[in-house]
Amino acid sequence: MKDMPARPVYLDNAATTFPKPASVLGKAIATYRRIGVSPGRGGYDLAAEAEEFVRETRRKVAHFFGSSDPDRVIFTGNATDALNIAFQGLLHPGDHVVSTRLEHNSVLRPLYHLRQKGIIEYDLVRFDGKGFVDPADIIAAIRPDTKLVVVTHASNVLGTVQPVREIGRSCAERGVPLLVDAAQSAGVVPIDVDDWHVAALAFTGHKSMLAPTGIGGLVLARQVENIESSRFGGTGINSASPVHTRDFPYRLEAGTLNLLGIIGLSGSLDYLEEAGIEAVHAREMELLGKLREGLSLITGIDLYSVEDLSDHVALLTANVRGMDPHDAGAILDGDFNIAVRVGLHCAPLVHEDLGTAPQGTIRFSIGPFNTTRHIDLVLKAMKEIARHAGEG
Ligand SMILES: Cc1ncc(COP(=O)(O)O)c(C=O)c1O
Repeated sequence: MKDMPARPVYLDNAATTFPKPASVLGKAIATYRRIGVSPGRGGYDLAAEAEEFVRETRRKVAHFFGSSDPDRVIFTGNATDALNIAFQGLLHPGDHVVSTRLEHNSVLRPLYHLRQKGIIEYDLVRFDGKGFVDPADIIAAIRPDTKLVVVTHASNVLGTVQPVREIGRSCAERGVPLLVDAAQSAGVVPIDVDDWHVAALAFTGHKSMLAPTGIGGLVLARQVENIESSRFGGTGINSASPVHTRDFPYRLEAGTLNLLGIIGLSGSLDYLEEAGIEAVHAREMELLGKLREGLSLITGIDLYSVEDLSDHVALLTANVRGMDPHDAGAILDGDFNIAVRVGLHCAPLVHEDLGTAPQGTIRFSIGPFNTTRHIDLVLKAMKEIARHAGEG
């Protein structure tokens, strides 16, 4: 096909950013070659150096998210893992939870599981026609037995950034902890855990934080004292005791840490600091604006994103009228070498409310290495696909 790019035009950055910055990967491998031993477990210099690297990365993560306590940075495999640790550690039989219909399955499924087991009850608040949750609706859903509010910071289907600061303030006034799923926002939206009264923040390294897969974390506020361990094992400290330590961060970590991932995360934080997350976000949003405008001019495209893209991350969803998004995705891949995500994007309730269930939508998500040319190629491809669909 004419104009078919030699390398895929990658617009699935909300699934995972690709490629990662070469400098981040290069430095990670070099550092891991140098200090890749079990952090802190051995009594030798290299183990101490590895442990200090981990500690320093906890400090960097805490600083990045506006937290004052690096010991409350828990390393996990990803956001899903962090959310599960938070749910299992914070919820008890009889508790009620408030969440939203914007959530990803990494929130919906643990909640559903706990409800099926008869442990909790929950209510999910609706989002408005523009894709935002009203903090007043969250507060209205809080009951005397509500022990947790959990909100996605940025929707992975609509890209809308929720008013977490306002929600956090209202939750704090009512003494209800707020858990934030920052999977799609961390790395492009500034976050201030302490200032926003966030009790726990789940993040993943491999999306906009530009780290490799397999590393994420839970950042806990100092007030969160009564979170229970849900995994037990070696921590490298108090080894004679049969009881898993209650000291943070080890209370919520067990087993050997993902040192290579932590090194990658450390490098990606340096990269983001140098690039400036506001600048990265602004550039991505410029491309998103161009994409949205171009798609809105094509006959036969249904767009599920509002014109005003403020308070958004750089993704949008659309459909070719009369065509299953899976077919559109296959054509984009096969005929145009353009990689997008199609389907429900693990957020089925959003599609129920948009009227796009069960097939879902085509999601275009922009990363720091996309260019204007990529957007031109996508618009050209979508025009052709929509024209064929209209004729068929
Ligand atoms: C909003 C949201 N939450 C959570 C996750 C889970 O992230 P991870 O797969 O890295 O655990 C995703 C990933 O797509 C997401 O988009």
